[in-house]
Amino acid sequence: MPPAALRQLVAEEAPQIARLDERPVAVGTVAQVHRAVWPDGRAVAVKVHRPDARAVLSDELARVRLSFRALHLALPGHPVAPLWEEFHRHAVTELDCPGEAEHQRAFAAAYRGDPDILVPEVRLAGRRLLVTDWVDGEPVTAIAAAGDQRRCDDVAALVTAFQLSAPARAGLLHADPASENFRITPDGRLAVLDFGAVAAYPDGLPREFGHLLRAIVDRDAERLEATLRELGAVGARGGSASRRLLALAEAAVLPVLAPDFRFDRHWLRRQAGTLTISAGLAVAQGVRLPPGHLPLLRMVVGTVRLFCRLNAQADYDSALASWLPGFRPA
Ligand SMILES: Nc1ncnc2c1ncn2[C@@H]1O[C@H](COP(=O)(O)OP(=O)(O)O)[C@@H](O)[C@H]1O
Ligand SMILES: [Mg+2]
Repeated sequence: MPPAALRQLVAEEAPQIARLDERPVAVGTVAQVHRAVWPDGRAVAVKVHRPDARAVLSDELARVRLSFRALHLALPGHPVAPLWEEFHRHAVTELDCPGEAEHQRAFAAAYRGDPDILVPEVRLAGRRLLVTDWVDGEPVTAIAAAGDQRRCDDVAALVTAFQLSAPARAGLLHADPASENFRITPDGRLAVLDFGAVAAYPDGLPREFGHLLRAIVDRDAERLEATLRELGAVGARGGSASRRLLALAEAAVLPVLAPDFRFDRHWLRRQAGTLTISAGLAVAQGVRLPPGHLPLLRMVVGTVRLFCRLNAQADYDSALASWLPGFRPA
């Protein structure tokens, strides 16, 4: 972003900022972040949307739309359009500064004073600019690269607790668990950044997801199918989630819940093949992803990728039992 445009935007939307470091600390596809000093002397992060943000996002969406078209051709009769609409709805929220600020405020309020999780307070939300408290700490990207396994496992435990507790505590889900969006503060808390991709779960995570996972753990095909129906995940054409679908779900999910499981990239590569078959088979049997839960899927996939980078081992079974309604054995 040209320095003159940056200065003008800050002068218009956050004139109280006197000291702004014009070198960005991070540059993304639509936004960049600068360090600055707030009038009371505290350090703040100023996230600004670049002037071409809208055009860049439209180009990106046009490209993604082609994939949805291809999906539509590959899956005749499958309701792809609602998935695309939901995807589009969430993608454009990346440019909604007031919306992002509102979400971050809700997260900050829910975790204020928490011994393990820190969400920076919002100081100001403009139209194209967001000011939040600066977080000192080590980026999780750097922790993953350094490879100290105990620290990596600690990060995974904190991320697990945060992701699963957020719907119950804040009524919201953070759908973008990229390593750049987390830091570890000097006192060991997990700092969470970037509330541009968030989904509302006002009543916490749906109990049906707990039932779904429990059915897989119990290897109960009948209950799995009943739960898929409750979730609206079985299309009008009917069909059934057969034992084979259960077997594939078991292969992907059960090992992760074992206490000695460690995520790694090779495991992920092997799973990618299995899961593609699993998803294909499920779709062929009339199972579909309820569009409203697309952000939840994004959160799960993003977390798995992050944990593979961390080679993480953590007690997911206990975390799920604590936070996912319906998961505890009856
Ligand atoms: N409050 C903050 N304190 C310190 N660094 C921050 C803060 N907010 C953002 N950053 C830095 O800027 C980067 C981009 O910010 P983010 O909100 O994730 O934007 P984007 O939506 O472009 O990913 C973060 O990964 C982090 O390195
Ligand atoms: Mg980010």
